[in-house]
Amino acid sequence: MSASVLNIDRSDRPRVLSGIQPTADSFQIGNYLGAIRRWVTLQDTHDAYYCVVDQHAITVDYDPAVLHRRTLVSFAQLIASGLDPQRSTIFVQSQVPEHSQLSWVLQCITGFGEAGRMTQFKDKSQREGADRSTVGLFTYPVLQAADILIYQANGVPVGEDQRQHLELTRDLAQRFNSRFGETFVVPEPLIVRETAKILDLADPGAKMSKSAPAGCLFLLDSPEVTRKKIKTAVTDSGREIAFDPVAKPGVSNLLALIAAFTQQTPQQVAQGLSGGGYGDLKAAALAAVLEFQEPFQARVNDLLSDPVALMDYMRMGADRARGAAQDTLRKVYERVGFVTLEGR
Ligand code: TYM
Repeated sequence: MSASVLNIDRSDRPRVLSGIQPTADSFQIGNYLGAIRRWVTLQDTHDAYYCVVDQHAITVDYDPAVLHRRTLVSFAQLIASGLDPQRSTIFVQSQVPEHSQLSWVLQCITGFGEAGRMTQFKDKSQREGADRSTVGLFTYPVLQAADILIYQANGVPVGEDQRQHLELTRDLAQRFNSRFGETFVVPEPLIVRETAKILDLADPGAKMSKSAPAGCLFLLDSPEVTRKKIKTAVTDSGREIAFDPVAKPGVSNLLALIAAFTQQTPQQVAQGLSGGGYGDLKAAALAAVLEFQEPFQARVNDLLSDPVALMDYMRMGADRARGAAQDTLRKVYERVGFVTLEGR
């Protein structure tokens, strides 16, 4: 890394923050296309903060040893995706305790009914069962709001499924500002329409998600597994390759996937494949995914083979993040009337 890159002052740039959960052995293609890929380009124009949200990952049933491993692998995947630990602040949420501290203050201005209306909470608590759902799952979106507001982020690059949580974040920022005085930047969601919702290969009516692994392409899947999942992807009746998400959701999803990896529009991909059959479409999808996966996996393995260097990156990110987070928390504590011991 050259010194000139290290010395760029990003303080006058708009800020972005986003996060990802370490709840699977690998990120999936939806995470990459819907969010992380945009995070990489935002490094050029923004003061960027990206975190592995391990505290969110403990809101549902989990195994500590597995969480530990997945957090390291997640961190490595972020760097392997093209995030640069020098240019961006890449860190692990639990290493910056100010998130939890702000979260408590925000919980105290969040309505019980308001939190209960979050659809992800309703879905997950239904899946877990009422007795097994935790209070942490209930307050999950408030911790997410704290992740964002503590950095005074102007924008939050995410997929479509995060929109409701960002609405809550904006509401909480505005509520706090009007009650205690201008404190937080009210952040905008940054959602790229074309890749906002990558669909499940086995069920193109649902979004691709790690909780349905059969139709989910993981970035760290072996070539054989990727081949099998694409081969068995659901297509639609008829034989024509056309981009029509309503009439042909399966075919359109594959076209969108190829388009995203090859810098084309789905219509251009369809045009290029016109005259071919669904077999050609799947071959093109496989080629596009493998072309990404192979070098990506090599980079992840490289990073994981040097745990000391990985921990150094982590420490650097956490130190930088804490500096920014402490500035906001100090202000918040003053505004809400806490007696602080500063200047003692
Ligand atoms: P998570 O870990 O579920 O997903 C990480 C990012 O990937 C996007 N994504 C998708 N985009 C398009 N198509 C898909 N099929 C798809 N699946 C996932 C998500 O929209 C997300 O942007 N609550 C967040 C984590 C979080 C966070 C934050 C995000 C915690 N704090 C602060 C932003 C800011 C989550 O569970 O993402």
